[in-house]
Amino acid sequence: MINTGIAIAGSGSATPSVSVDNHALSQLVETSDEWIASRTGIRYRKLASAETTLSAIATRAAQQALSMAQVDPSEIDLILLATSTADDLFGSAGQVQAQLGATQAVAFDLTAACSGFVFGLVTAAQFIRTGVYRNVLLIGADVMSRWVDWSDRTTCVLFGDGAGAVVLQASECDRLLGFELRSDGNQNACLNLSYQPQPKALTDQITIGQGNYQSVTMNGQEVYRFAVTKVPEVIEKALYRANMGAEGIDWLILHQANQRIMDAVAQRLNIPAEKVISNLANYGNTSAASIPLALDEAVREGKIQPGDVIAVSGFGAGLSWGASIFQWGKPSS
Ligand code: UT7
Repeated sequence: MINTGIAIAGSGSATPSVSVDNHALSQLVETSDEWIASRTGIRYRKLASAETTLSAIATRAAQQALSMAQVDPSEIDLILLATSTADDLFGSAGQVQAQLGATQAVAFDLTAACSGFVFGLVTAAQFIRTGVYRNVLLIGADVMSRWVDWSDRTTCVLFGDGAGAVVLQASECDRLLGFELRSDGNQNACLNLSYQPQPKALTDQITIGQGNYQSVTMNGQEVYRFAVTKVPEVIEKALYRANMGAEGIDWLILHQANQRIMDAVAQRLNIPAEKVISNLANYGNTSAASIPLALDEAVREGKIQPGDVIAVSGFGAGLSWGASIFQWGKPSS
């Protein structure tokens, strides 16, 4: 019989070594440790050097996840790299596949900004549910420092770089209990990293557009309002699909964007603060990496135990948002 349940069998994470505190940023823009810490909860962020590639950080996180899951790279069927900051616009998953030596795996990028990990988790699950693949490696990785305007204090203080990964495996017992994914392109303008083409005449008759991607722009207040409204709703929907209530959650891991958003969402769902996992203070907003990075730290600290029920929710550009409820670990563990 083909096993079409899903187990999340291992996690890993990696960040650049350079940590930058809020005081250092106050030398770049008019800001302060007090403003950043009180409005966001962020104190430090890791920033990648010019030599550091996204695929190298993603590969390090993936190696740790494979090692925890005791899966050899040659056994991976699919690599999904959730990222919005690929080294190559054609995708960076292939480079991760090569660096891992995952010779049997098909690899591709998935772009859903800060919702990328949750969207990737659900995408990965479909390949297992249909019986097509047995071992899927999902990585959330972003190097936002490449795309932030370092003279814009409203965005540059928020972001950091990193990667997190999980291994999903086919299992007799299904540990992916429920999910819900949403998009609203009508609010796309709230958060962008968009391409700005300049007209370029190739001949008298033919003009194409060539340009560059612009830095991140965000209407912070709009995104804040969207998050505190939509995230509790989407978690409740995922809980409904999992046939359980918020009291059944052992750990809540939200996209690490703002501590005030995490507190407001937990309060709305009546989830006590001690069940909310947060490492935002040390890393800032690492986009698609933030949830698996927080998950992996909590697993390695021994907070999250096999069988624990975890609710994750990502939200961000698109606008996009989603939630998933799963139990940690292999059923036999
Ligand atoms: O990953 C994608 C998801 N993104 C998010 O979830 C972000 C959601 N939004 C937020 O987290 C918050 O809206 C921010 C942290 C971005 C901003 O916090 P806020 O409490 O909404 O501040 P604000 O935008 O209302 O700005 C308040 C004041 C303004 O000054 P005035 O107009 O009152 O004089 C800003 O110019 O704070 C000023 N300000 C700053 N001051 C010092 C904005 N950025 C800074 C800064 N340092 N870095």
